[in-house]
Amino acid sequence: MITGIRGMNDILPPDIPQWRFVEETARRIFGLYGYSELRSPVLEKTELFLRGMGEDTDVVEKQMYTFADKSGDSVSLRPEATASVLRAVIEHGLLGQEPIQKLFSIGPMFRYERPQKGRYRQFHQINCERLGESGPLIDAETLCLAYDIAGALGLSGIELEVNSLGCPVCRPAYQQALRAFMLSRRADLCDNCRRRMETNPLRVLDCKAESCKVAVIDAPAIEDYLCPDCRSHYQAVLTALASLEVPFTKNTRLVRGLDYYTRTTFEISAAGLGSQNAIAGGGRYDGLIADLGGPAAPGIGFAFGLERLIMLLEPIPTQTQGCFVVALGEDAKEQALCLLTALRRAGIRSEAALDKSFKVQMRHAGKSGYPLCAILGGDEIASRTVTLKDLGSGEQSSVARDVFVNAVKQALDL
Ligand code: HAM
Repeated sequence: MITGIRGMNDILPPDIPQWRFVEETARRIFGLYGYSELRSPVLEKTELFLRGMGEDTDVVEKQMYTFADKSGDSVSLRPEATASVLRAVIEHGLLGQEPIQKLFSIGPMFRYERPQKGRYRQFHQINCERLGESGPLIDAETLCLAYDIAGALGLSGIELEVNSLGCPVCRPAYQQALRAFMLSRRADLCDNCRRRMETNPLRVLDCKAESCKVAVIDAPAIEDYLCPDCRSHYQAVLTALASLEVPFTKNTRLVRGLDYYTRTTFEISAAGLGSQNAIAGGGRYDGLIADLGGPAAPGIGFAFGLERLIMLLEPIPTQTQGCFVVALGEDAKEQALCLLTALRRAGIRSEAALDKSFKVQMRHAGKSGYPLCAILGGDEIASRTVTLKDLGSGEQSSVARDVFVNAVKQALDL
């Protein structure tokens, strides 16, 4: 037996209603906020992610599916959508056509992580990018959008954590303070963090190793190093969130796993998911579009992990409003196919199992979950009628062939 690849899941038919519910809900809320959809390829030049996400990040260092294609070019499966969406925006000059871009994307992402509950190697994101606006109200509105998506999905027990990572003006002083602090704890850090404390000390705050987590408990807080502009921006975001009645907590250790963030960063977590409890993460990235070769435009965005959202939902039963058609005898079977087609062309869901014996067809009808069954046999053919059977009560009635479709519609309350 050839099995699927570890960490890459099949999504089987019983789970599809939940996937659709999440995707359709997100599309609806994005629509309310005036967002358009952008679809980018799953494969990009590796260089895009090196430049976009930062070479010191775990995602780029350890988790990328990177290989040489047949022409020898290094390509990677996208580990996130942001870099791809921005590449598309820049390549097609979208910001030149319209300086404010509000874009969402839904699709698979790939990270070579150790699979566990809620963490997969192929997973799906609902991604949001808002480009061209830099004010704190934009941040608050974007966080409110994420909160509204979670609300529309009916999620309870969620927590929004917010932080500011400062900007190129104030972050160097903070990094310097962090480095000095980490030097005093060097012996307790993992090998990777000993290296990263020089190149990118913020990453150390994000390290999952237990010894590193303990070593940085007393590390300086970024909030104490924000420049006046970043401080007032951050304060205005928090004030606006409070007016929008979006509950949040401040978390000065929230550095996020990617390098492009400036100022506002945030994560939404949910109870009941175990250790992989982040259902969404995002933040502002005012330098990234220019870093990728585009105009000096600011941006902010976030992504939800679809699998984690689905783990929080109750199962949704598959749709069962429809009619099962059963036929006795070869002539009746052929005519039953015509009835099925007439029903479907009238927008009524219908099924049959015409290859099977009458008895087995009736068994399928019973198991179908449909409330109604249409029966066609010799008598019905002779009288140009169809017998309709209510599969709940067992009640039967005879309807003329000419009004069959309408009778089914009526019986199903359509
Ligand atoms: P991220 O925090 O790396 O951010 O991922 C966002 C969400 O994707 C996570 O909160 C989690 O729910 C889900 N996720 C990440 N990795 C996995 C995995 N291996 N298995 C299952 N779910 C996973 C980003 O990707 C940024 N690009 C978000 C963003 C958009 N920032 C600005 N714009």
